Amino acid sequence: SPVAVLLGGNAREREVSLSTGDAVLKALEASGIACIAVDTRADWMSVLAQHGVKHCFIALHGPGGEDGTIQGALEYLGISYTGSGVLASALGMDKLRCKHLWRGIGLPTADYRLLDDRSDFAELLAALGGKVIVKPALEGSSIGMSIAETAEQLSAAYQLAGGQQAVVMAERWIDGPEYTLAILNNRPLPAIELRTEHSFYDYDAKYIANDTQYICPAPLDDSAADELSTLALAAFNSIGCDGWGRVDFMRDKQGRFMLLEVNTVPGMTSHSLVPMAAREEGIDFNALVLHILLDSL
Ligand code: DAL
Ligand code: MG
Repeated sequence: SPVAVLLGGNAREREVSLSTGDAVLKALEASGIACIAVDTRADWMSVLAQHGVKHCFIALHGPGGEDGTIQGALEYLGISYTGSGVLASALGMDKLRCKHLWRGIGLPTADYRLLDDRSDFAELLAALGGKVIVKPALEGSSIGMSIAETAEQLSAAYQLAGGQQAVVMAERWIDGPEYTLAILNNRPLPAIELRTEHSFYDYDAKYIANDTQYICPAPLDDSAADELSTLALAAFNSIGCDGWGRVDFMRDKQGRFMLLEVNTVPGMTSHSLVPMAAREEGIDFNALVLHILLDSL
């Protein structure tokens, strides 16, 4: 039976998922593996049944695809799938609960506050050092994120992130740079440092602009590189991730790495970071996709 590459879906990261899925499909085909593309926006369960699918490659990003929902449905159907299971996927999608968990076990992550309609924006801003990054807790690809340095900006940023309809948090701004650690077969790959001309590594800097700089391996001394790998693996394991993923960090002015989030289905587009880190280890894109698939069988 063919491997089904699950892609698309209904999340706001749909376009990114279509790119990831397309790249994954081509790579599997290049390795001689029979596969079909299945868009989870339509009746995907019937399509899997029609083709007798026994294994899925999950190329979905965002709520509904990366957050344990699809993983749970596949468990129920007895179909195996790539990457993390239900709990790790659900936690990985939830930046707020990851922070709670990391604080509980002593992993470093920036100070934050939850925002709601009753928040005192001026007080909150002052408590977080006067500059914050506002995020929906349950999104990916920087969707809905913006920086605020005044109470008015914070109010607007809260609305942009979804306001009362979403779980919105403000995080103390860390000047960066940003680092990311890809994990493959439960082992960290070389770190990547990201430098952007944008005020932060936003959607445009991720997928559209050509002026984002990626440095791999990141120019870190051995002890910092080790620390970063150790932290990445600790964060990955703390929520019970399995197989592959990507852990994102900022580094503050004191040189401390602060956890941003764990991605359980990282992007695999032409601009993406896991393929870049794998290449540094001599693993080309087709081999990377095959590794992820084989690791899940
Ligand atoms: N959420 C995007 C796809 C990423 O982390 O790569
Ligand atoms: Mg993400």
